[in-house]
Amino acid sequence: MTLKTIINQFPKNFIFGTATSSYQIEGSGFGNCGESHWDSFSKKANSTFKNQSGLVACNHIQNWAEDLDLVANGGFSAYRFSFSWPRLIKNGKNEINPDGFSFYDRLLDGMLERNLSPFATLYHWDLPKTLADYGGWTNRETSKWFGDYTEKVIKCFGDRLYSVATINEPWCVSWLSHYLGHHAPGLKNLRDAVRSMHFILLAHGEATCILKSLGQHNVGIVLNKQYCQPATQNPEDISASQLNDEIHNLWFDQALFKGSYPSRILALFENHMPVGFENDLTKISQKLDWLGINYYTRSITKSDPTEKILGFKSETGSLPKTDMGWEIFPRGLTTLLERQIKVYSKSLPIYVTENGMANKDKIINDLIDDYQRIKYFELHLDEVRNLINNKAPIKGFFVWSLLDNFEWAFGYDKRFGLVHVNFDSQKRTPKKSYYAFKDALTN
Ligand code: FCB
Repeated sequence: MTLKTIINQFPKNFIFGTATSSYQIEGSGFGNCGESHWDSFSKKANSTFKNQSGLVACNHIQNWAEDLDLVANGGFSAYRFSFSWPRLIKNGKNEINPDGFSFYDRLLDGMLERNLSPFATLYHWDLPKTLADYGGWTNRETSKWFGDYTEKVIKCFGDRLYSVATINEPWCVSWLSHYLGHHAPGLKNLRDAVRSMHFILLAHGEATCILKSLGQHNVGIVLNKQYCQPATQNPEDISASQLNDEIHNLWFDQALFKGSYPSRILALFENHMPVGFENDLTKISQKLDWLGINYYTRSITKSDPTEKILGFKSETGSLPKTDMGWEIFPRGLTTLLERQIKVYSKSLPIYVTENGMANKDKIINDLIDDYQRIKYFELHLDEVRNLINNKAPIKGFFVWSLLDNFEWAFGYDKRFGLVHVNFDSQKRTPKKSYYAFKDALTN
């Protein structure tokens, strides 16, 4: 079945959009932006591919109108973007940057003029460096500062937003960045990881209180899910995979929807939990209006006693992979969403807020035939459509990403866009996948 045939079978009011994030496209060197911990992290040797950073990125600060035209002309009705905290408040607390406020003012008006519904994210990883220097997400105070920042953003822009997500991918903010060390601040220790896993949820709770008190509608959070499978049916591997699932998925689900943490992992983390963490769980588990799910791949877990802390390691399986080395496993999306709905979010509206693939795209005579990416979307949208047919409350799907961009530690080496970006000339060239969506959404 073609992408068009599949998309035509979605309900008429289903939302198709594209997603981006501030640090990955804007260019932190423009518009008097404050320094973020991604700027400082990428200055450290070997932190990112060829020491690349988001200083220029897609120069979206200047090219935003062209970029919004691409979203609208592609037939999409929504645009998921993020506010940059250091662009708005340079030191994270009180150093207001008028240029930052006027940029988002223009961007939001630009979306509305093009009939694009703005899906805003308040935090997609660009933490002001000043706050990172105070301990970032390992410091309880950061959650409080995040609440103050939320208030400033919403008072200024709230009436123009279709929806607000507090945090993008708390697992990446905490575990990936503080235990695995892949992302800023690049730490590798359990204590920092555990504390950030709690404080990032507390930040969500603080922001949710503010959002609700200001009467903001459509408040949610975006979680990244990985489908965890044991390497074999041996009891040790099954148990290891369950633990991996708790760290990756259930820690966040259980806290947000049930106001507690999974007991097995909590026992493992106990000595590192901040004192009185139990008292924060009511704030963390406030009622939400929607849930965002980002899905890319699965994780295969093998018991490994040489891994002293967790006792397991994650492996990649033998399915075809994207340029990230991530296995293509569309079925995982269905299995995860079925559990999500049944056990945790029930009838809460769900948006697939990110899905997509990095590909070694080749530009030949100004044409990019990324048929692999079209196939990837066909496979995943097929799963989403079947879920909807089975009454899953899924209301929208966002392609990651509109543009090739700064893919964090992988720099500009990995291309996820529907639109190719030449990072020297900043020329945008829509790929075949862009035209496939356009054909499906506009005809
Ligand atoms: C997600 C991030 C997004 C992008 C994609 C590939 O985890 O939210 O910024 O890096 O992965």
